[in-house]
Amino acid sequence: MKRIVLGVSAGIAAYKAALLLRLFKEAGHQVDVIPTAASLEFVGIATWEALSGRPVRTSVFEAVDTVNHVRLGQEADLVLIAPATADVMARAAAGMANDLLTGTLLATGAPVVMAPAMHTEMWEHPATVANVATLRSRGVHVIEPAVGRLTGKDSGAGRFPEPEDIFAAVAPYLEGASGLSDDDAPFATEAVATAAGPLAGKTIAISAGGTREPLDPVRYLGNRSSGRQGIALAKAALAAGATVRFVAAHMDLPAPAGVELSTASTARQLQGAVTEAARGADVLVMSAAVADFRPAEYVDSKIKKSDEHADPVITLVRNPDILATLVADRAAEGTAGDLPPLIVGFAAETGDAESSVLAYGAAKLARKGCEMLVVNEVGENLTFGTDENSVTILFADGTEAVHASGSKDAVAEAVIAAVARELAPARQR
Ligand code: CTP
Repeated sequence: MKRIVLGVSAGIAAYKAALLLRLFKEAGHQVDVIPTAASLEFVGIATWEALSGRPVRTSVFEAVDTVNHVRLGQEADLVLIAPATADVMARAAAGMANDLLTGTLLATGAPVVMAPAMHTEMWEHPATVANVATLRSRGVHVIEPAVGRLTGKDSGAGRFPEPEDIFAAVAPYLEGASGLSDDDAPFATEAVATAAGPLAGKTIAISAGGTREPLDPVRYLGNRSSGRQGIALAKAALAAGATVRFVAAHMDLPAPAGVELSTASTARQLQGAVTEAARGADVLVMSAAVADFRPAEYVDSKIKKSDEHADPVITLVRNPDILATLVADRAAEGTAGDLPPLIVGFAAETGDAESSVLAYGAAKLARKGCEMLVVNEVGENLTFGTDENSVTILFADGTEAVHASGSKDAVAEAVIAAVARELAPARQR
């Protein structure tokens, strides 16, 4: 049993903290919830008291005899703020203590973890970026927010990670018999990253999810990629000890904690983000589903149906081939360049009367010029959005093809193992 202080600040995601609290209770921990006053607009004290079985206060002027503002922090094994708004992170970065939660932060010697939730603009604002950097420099573990649907119709980075993911992220802080210091219990993936895994010391850039090409302010051309395979690859690479630069297009799930995250929407944006992530990396894995075409024209206002005019015809133009461009740039830059020596493509293929899935894959490997190609068969009920996958990994250097099937995690582990083998010193080009 550990003593957790669960700080809740004023975001709509506060309701998800109730699920998180239940996970902690089911795992046998004692949880003191400290909601900020504004967060009570979203979830009230009764909910927190009922779920935690403990008295809940928000102000330093309640239960003053128990010296709550110092005691809760001193006794805690972990202080977790979830959701952490831009406001609470700003106050914490400034060392303010103008409510019970921020007072607790100053009084605690326990590890502090924050799970941010806010709109993308707020997350990317220079003030928030600077505050997060300050907090991290002081040893606060700020979990990367997920990418996905936000409160309104918008989506992007800033989404509150799923309660299960936060629970998993803080699990290492809750192990052991006594209170753990920051040094003893670093975040799980960081702990793994420093271990001597097969990719220790290596940096891997991974793209994931599907791009969207806007037609007008409300419509886009997209694809059915969920990002699951890319997420599984990132987790497998972290577990193998790599530093992971994760470039997320649109995904159904949040990006995994522990990665260096960047986001992109269209193929052209993805090209910029992937190129930046790939430079200086040892490996690039292009698992994103990139739109090959985009509408030739973007219409500023919603395209309307009209009886007088003919139905619109959408003209498409080619998007850049990110993978092939990087392979070509690497060749052009030669030894002076810093693009990865190992580039891995994914091929989503369907067989037809003329050729098999694998034959198409082999042709694509040659065409794209990358070192490895992970070929999988796609169709309406195959691969996209499911947890299962079946792939064949092809190698340009003549290494015998590897077949892997099972969960996307199992496939990811096979791909990362193949990457590690290709990077092994004797194989280096
Ligand atoms: N890819 C890319 N840029 C594109 C299209 C695809 O970088 N504009 C990458 C994908 O991320 C993947 C690989 O190329 O790693 C193969 O993607 P796939 O869609 O199967 O291949 P295409 O090149 O689009 O070939 P085709 O549609 O002709 O089968």
